[in-house]
Amino acid sequence: MRWAYDAQTSPISPTEFLSPTPEDSYREYALHPAERVHAVFQRLWLALVLEDTGVLDLDPETLNTNTRPPGPNLFGGINRELTIGLWRQLRGDSNRPSKPVQASLDFLLDHPQVLISALRQSLLQMELNAKQHYSGDQPLGTCPFDASTRLKASPEGTIYCPREQDLSHQPTGPVGMSMLLAHHYKPRIGDLEWVEELVGIRPGQHVVDIGAGTGSYTFPLAERVGHSGKVLALEIDPSLIEYLEFMTLALQTPNVESVENLEEDLLLPDSVADLVLIVDLDRCSRLPSEFFSGTLGEQIRDSLKPDGHLVILRSYSTPSYEVYEEILAPKGLVLKAREQRLTRELLVFQQP
Ligand SMILES: C[S@@+](CC[C@H](N)C(=O)[O-])C[C@H]1O[C@@H](n2cnc3c(N)ncnc32)[C@H](O)[C@@H]1O
Repeated sequence: MRWAYDAQTSPISPTEFLSPTPEDSYREYALHPAERVHAVFQRLWLALVLEDTGVLDLDPETLNTNTRPPGPNLFGGINRELTIGLWRQLRGDSNRPSKPVQASLDFLLDHPQVLISALRQSLLQMELNAKQHYSGDQPLGTCPFDASTRLKASPEGTIYCPREQDLSHQPTGPVGMSMLLAHHYKPRIGDLEWVEELVGIRPGQHVVDIGAGTGSYTFPLAERVGHSGKVLALEIDPSLIEYLEFMTLALQTPNVESVENLEEDLLLPDSVADLVLIVDLDRCSRLPSEFFSGTLGEQIRDSLKPDGHLVILRSYSTPSYEVYEEILAPKGLVLKAREQRLTRELLVFQQP
C-alpha cells in the first residue's frame, strides 16, 4: 500500500506536538490517551512520508513484521528540533535549521533504514509507555539496548539491561540512531556549567568523554577547550562512532577525536587528561560494579594528569554514590566533591 503525502489535504498537522517550547514538552506528558495515539500516528506517518518522498527505499516488512520486541527510546519521544527539521525539509520549507541539526538530518537521511527502524522503535516504545502509564504500572526504566526486557531493578536499584545478562549482546545501529533522535547534541541544561564551577574547563585542556553517545557533551566541550584543546569521545557502539565522526566534520571541530573502545580496554594513553567525564553511563549500560570490574578504573586513573579529575554526572537515584566511592577508592581515585541539584548528582574524583 502506498501512502500519498499531500501537505494540503493531510489531516495531520505537525505543529501541535512538534513545537519546540518547554511548555509543550511538558504538555505532551499530560496528553489524554487518545491524543497520545494521535501523536504516535503522527510519528508513524512521518516515517511513511519519508518513504513516499523517495528519500527512503523502505521494505514494508520493516514496519509490518514484529520480529523485534518493542525497542529503545530513552525519553519516549523524538528530538523535537530534529523532527521539525525533517518535516520542514520534506515539505520543501526554505527555513533551514541550525547547522548541527542540518548535519544530523543529512546523516539520518543517509542512513534511511536505520532511521526508519529507530522511528518504529520509538513508536512502539511510546505505545508501551502509554499502556503502562494508564494501566497504573510504573515502568522501572527503559533500556535503550533492548526494551523487550523491561528489566527488574537490582538490589542497588539500577536497571539491568541485556548487556548485563548476556555479554554477547552488542548495541546495534538502530539503537544508536534512536539515541540520536532522542538526544541530539544538547547537554542537559546547566550540566556543563556545573562541571565548570567545580573543576573548571579551560581552553587548551584535554577532556575524555566516556560513553559519548551522540556527542551531547562532546561538542559543547570541544567549544570550551578550543582549538588548542582536545576532546576524546569514547563509544562502544560503532554506529555512534560513525555519527560522531560525521558530526566532527560537519561541525568543523577537528579537536574532537572519536574512538571505539572495547569492553575491557578504553584505549587511553597515560597522563593525558585534565578531565575524564562520564555522563549517564549507568542510565543504560553497566552497573558501576561491572563497568569497573576489570581495570577500567585503573585505566582512567592512569589517563589523568596528576591534578586531573574524573567527573561522574548522573541521575542520583540509582545506585548510591557510595558504590562508586567504594569501587574507585581502591583504584586510587578519591571522592573530592559530591553535589546534588534536582535529580542530578555530580561526583568529582581525583588521585590522592
Ligand atoms: C545514556 S548514554 C549517554 C550518552 C552521553 N554521555 C549523554 O549523556 O548524552 C550511554 C552511552 O554509553 C555507551 N556505553 C555503554 N557502555 C560503554 C562502555 N563500556 N564504553 C564506552 N561506552 C559505553 C552507550 O553506547 C551509550 O551511547
